[in-house]
Amino acid sequence: MIEVRNLTKAYGRTVAVDALGFEVRPGSVTGFLGPNGSGKSTTMRMIMGLDRPDTGEARIGGRAYRDLAWPLREVGALLEARTFHPGRSAHHHLAALAAAGGIASRRVGEVLETVGLSAVAHRRAGKYSLGTAQRLGIAAALLGDPAVLLFDEPVNGLDPQGVRWIRNLMRSLAAEGRTVLLSSHLIAEMALTADHLVVIGRGRLLADTTVRELTRGGGSLEEAFFRLTGGSAEYRGTGADPSAGLTEADCAPPATGPACIRAGRMALTPTGSAPGPPSDDRAAHREAPAPGQRPHHGVPRRGSAEHEERHS
Ligand SMILES: Nc1ncnc2c1ncn2[C@@H]1O[C@H](COP(=O)(O)OP(=O)(O)OP(=O)(O)O)[C@@H](O)[C@H]1O
Ligand SMILES: [Mg+2]
Repeated sequence: MIEVRNLTKAYGRTVAVDALGFEVRPGSVTGFLGPNGSGKSTTMRMIMGLDRPDTGEARIGGRAYRDLAWPLREVGALLEARTFHPGRSAHHHLAALAAAGGIASRRVGEVLETVGLSAVAHRRAGKYSLGTAQRLGIAAALLGDPAVLLFDEPVNGLDPQGVRWIRNLMRSLAAEGRTVLLSSHLIAEMALTADHLVVIGRGRLLADTTVRELTRGGGSLEEAFFRLTGGSAEYRGTGADPSAGLTEADCAPPATGPACIRAGRMALTPTGSAPGPPSDDRAAHREAPAPGQRPHHGVPRRGSAEHEERHS
């Protein structure tokens, strides 16, 4: 079980994570969704003790990461690809981790087999393709046979066969009773992989629900995602309006969100959400925003130079 309580983290004037709280329960895959820059990786780093929160706390099995006696045996994480020495082989890298983490050396061969890297285990890891490097990162996460696992965009760089393999791996880890937190931008894939979803935008919780609930009524998870996050996307190209095509039915409560607000499909009252006006009032309604219509996230926009630096 992962518990995130009131987590806040700012980098200078940028509030990356803003009073965020949710739980990740064992036995299911919890998808962690949000637009670029919404704070997913920062949250995962704080759970793993790699970033210190300004306020709040994250607990794994009831304890902060720093208080875990054998961290690699209690929680495994793939946060970034290529966190290995390029001159080491996969086998050497995993053997070093096992020795440092009090893990039986036989696990090295087992996890290499699990991720399909046995044949290249003695090649220099620096020469691995992105997909192969991802598999090595997953092997490292699984090494200590932990009950709690975090994967930050593990399907990045994987071919279709690899994407399907990740899906089955995530589901089988959850079926074994483990706690699995998985971030990905491949929404359709997430719909097939996750049971539960935590959706964030600009560091704040937008939804903590099930895939089934979000897609209730027959819409796709992608549509639900755009509805929820339309007002929270930090980076948006031209000509791409996620609220385009939303219908009244899409925006009926409880499935509401900033994209619907931007599209004028629903109104917010100061105390909460309410259905939009009758259809003949719609045009007028769009021109006269209801109270609370513009979502306020309290997060300063970052300068483009910083964006370029981090996302180039
Ligand atoms: N080390 C850092 N220094 C400065 N700003 C940071 C740092 N790490 C993250 N940020 C900023 O915090 C915000 C959240 O970033 P984060 O990487 O957590 O988002 P994300 O949801 O993982 O995005 P993506 O989907 O692009 O991976 C962004 O505005 C980002 O630029
Ligand atoms: Mg990220």
